[in-house]
Amino acid sequence: MGYTYHVPTGRNPFCNEVIEWESSEVFELIANKRVMKILIATEKPFAPKAVAGIREVFDAAGYEVVLLEKYSDKSELLAAVADVDGLIIRSDKVTAEVLAAAEQLKIVVRAGAGYDNVDLEAASERGVVVMNTPGQNSNAVAELALGMMIYMSRNQFTPGTGFELQGKSVGIHAYGNVGRLVARKAKAMGMEVMAYDPFVKDDAVFEADGVKKVESVEELYSNADFLSLHIPATAQTKGSIGYKLLMSMPKGATLVNTARKEVMDECGLQAALSERTDLKYVTDIAPDSAEELAKIAGKRFFATPKKMGAETAEANINAAVAAARQIVDFLENGNTRFQVNK
Ligand SMILES: NC(=O)c1ccc[n+]([C@@H]2O[C@H](COP(=O)([O-])OP(=O)(O)OC[C@H]3O[C@@H](n4cnc5c(N)ncnc54)[C@H](O)[C@@H]3O)[C@@H](O)[C@H]2O)c1
Repeated sequence: MGYTYHVPTGRNPFCNEVIEWESSEVFELIANKRVMKILIATEKPFAPKAVAGIREVFDAAGYEVVLLEKYSDKSELLAAVADVDGLIIRSDKVTAEVLAAAEQLKIVVRAGAGYDNVDLEAASERGVVVMNTPGQNSNAVAELALGMMIYMSRNQFTPGTGFELQGKSVGIHAYGNVGRLVARKAKAMGMEVMAYDPFVKDDAVFEADGVKKVESVEELYSNADFLSLHIPATAQTKGSIGYKLLMSMPKGATLVNTARKEVMDECGLQAALSERTDLKYVTDIAPDSAEELAKIAGKRFFATPKKMGAETAEANINAAVAAARQIVDFLENGNTRFQVNK
């Protein structure tokens, strides 16, 4: 009997090539099926509950799990990836060198939103699928953004008269998963919310949240008492927020950055904070020039000691389990819904 089977032909087992196989050969293939091996490589480990959640998903799929936590040297990662089929990471760097060392690798999932720590081009060249887990930690980041607004409006919880968020305007720069949640929470705080995101074409998305859509980044900054940054770090956005935009902000305005430090032009930031003694900058990602900024701006500047936007138990577990499920769904069913290197 001549059956037609989709058979793994390359590094990506779900390429479209179809090969005619004898059924006996297929039965042999199934009998000798390699157990998929998945590496969880986290310099900054997941919470134990998140690791348990990952294990549960892979145990059910019959996969082997290897854990590499708190590694201090790249060589440890290079050795650990040598024979794995899948890789789960957090902010860990997956460079061309790591990919070259991972001969069996088919998929990398960044448990989290930003994936600028993965060399997408090198992954694509090697036929490795890269995914993130969008939305899984957004609520944690959005809550932190609101918390940072309150922290800065209350003089970093030191004595003195602060001000309230109610009645103030907030500009949301990028209306993705985090931006939308910040918008909804800010509405609940009685703030006036506007947003700018040229890639969200459907006005109904903004209307449904009662958010004013603005047409330019200049319009957004010049009207925002608080500006909440949610753009990804891309070639287009890196270094794009600087002197001009900051100087255009209303008196007493606060820029809140829970996105990426790379999107800031730090020279421009320093200049704006020194010229405008009413401006504030609060960030979840310590700038390279944190010391200078602290000298220039004192209590008008705050950076979390370590990135903590996604550091909640809920976000940790959600992102970890989603990453594991996405790997199984890809290896078993070829689902590439969350692929970012298409
Ligand atoms: N602090 C943390 O721990 C933490 C955790 C999660 C995410 N993040 C960062 O927060 C940011 C937002 O994450 P997200 O989950 O909302 O991402 P997302 O992919 O859901 O949304 C990003 C949005 O940015 C928009 N965008 C892209 N380029 C733009 C541009 N040039 N101008 C305006 N809009 C643009 C896209 O249209 C999209 O709507 C990212 O930078 C991510 O790395 C930080």
